[in-house]
Amino acid sequence: MDIGIDKIGFYTPKKYIDIVELAKARNVDPDKFTIGIGQSKQSVPMEYQDSVTMAAEAANQIISKDDNIGLVIVGTESSVDESKAVATFLVDLLNLPEDVRAFEIKEACYGATAGLKMAEGFVALNPDKKALVIASDIARYGINTPGEVTQGAGAVAMLIGKDPKILKFNHEEVYMTKNVGDFWRPTFSKTAFARGKFSNQVYVEFFSELWQKYQNTFDQTVDDFQTMLFHVPYTKMGMKALKTLKDKIDPDKFDELSKHYQASIEMGREVGNLYTGSLYLALISYLINGDPKDNEKILLFSYGSGAVGELYSATIQPEFKKNLVSEEIKEVLSNREKISIKEYENIFAEDPQNGYSTNVSDVLDEFYLREIKESERLYKKMEH
Ligand code: CAA
Repeated sequence: MDIGIDKIGFYTPKKYIDIVELAKARNVDPDKFTIGIGQSKQSVPMEYQDSVTMAAEAANQIISKDDNIGLVIVGTESSVDESKAVATFLVDLLNLPEDVRAFEIKEACYGATAGLKMAEGFVALNPDKKALVIASDIARYGINTPGEVTQGAGAVAMLIGKDPKILKFNHEEVYMTKNVGDFWRPTFSKTAFARGKFSNQVYVEFFSELWQKYQNTFDQTVDDFQTMLFHVPYTKMGMKALKTLKDKIDPDKFDELSKHYQASIEMGREVGNLYTGSLYLALISYLINGDPKDNEKILLFSYGSGAVGELYSATIQPEFKKNLVSEEIKEVLSNREKISIKEYENIFAEDPQNGYSTNVSDVLDEFYLREIKESERLYKKMEH
């Protein structure tokens, strides 16, 4: 049975900062941020937004009443509660039936890939049902930290089913886990701790080791793929991994992979790091901005600090354009407003506590945090 992504949706907040302005505010040469790191804009979530509201926005773009969803998984490292899963809020906000399994997965930026693999197994056992897997995160390092330029926010929602219309999973996958201290966020902290340069190194080492393992396991080479997609914490990062192949493969092949990589990072450049959604935004970006061929075989590299990596192959389905909500996705990116660095710093400092309530007239989105009452977060969908 063919199983994979039938639909895919995307959301990022409606406010952003310009990376050149950020560089100037931090007394950094703008080329470092735009070329050295490879970012142009960075999404800034509003006070009423979090992993729940963004997940709801992305899922709302693709689901319908007839989907027969039996499983909802949210992969996130910016959860709102130590106990209650983001996915349980969604059942209510998205009017999903109660006969679903709903829970959350955490392993840094690997969470959504873990969710997809579980969803694949679920559909194999329940071919008449679909699974909704959502990656939703706010990447926060802090004002004036080395990681600040690699922040971002957003969500990618994927509907997994049999006979998928967008991407078929090939069941060719290799994975590995090592206890590594490259990046972490303790429960007391709203911002991440990173050994930045070390994290770059571990990311590249994971890719190299997995690529070797993949080739040995499946007796395939780079010529079996037209495209490699990467987890993109900032757009230069995937290129560091891809470049490890440069002197080992035909130059024309490397050029082809580099060209496709450029198409895959166009959107990430505009929003920043989505953590667990970044790889899947690269997929969306490639499908919309690249020139993918029917039945093109692609390789996806998922990396979650801590660390877990997975390299797996998938095939683009002939009818992918019909099921891809390209116009809605493009609108998410074009329908945004630039804010100043000062405004961003003010928003960043906000920290809604017990007793907080949102002024509904300030809400620009469909889903929002309504209030925090008795330390419980209560969400709402905008009434039209
Ligand atoms: N013009 C052009 N390029 C310039 C430049 C200029 N004026 N000045 C510097 N650069 C280049 C540097 O040469 C460097 O390029 P290379 O990486 O190719 O060597 C690049 O800009 C960055 O410069 P630095 O290494 O000096 O930058 P930094 O010390 O400020 O840190 C960072 C960069 C480590 C990525 C930091 O932003 C960070 O810690 N980010 C968060 C951690 C992260 O994203 N890690 C990625 C792997 S882990 C992961 O993937 C999980 C996840 O999502 C977090």
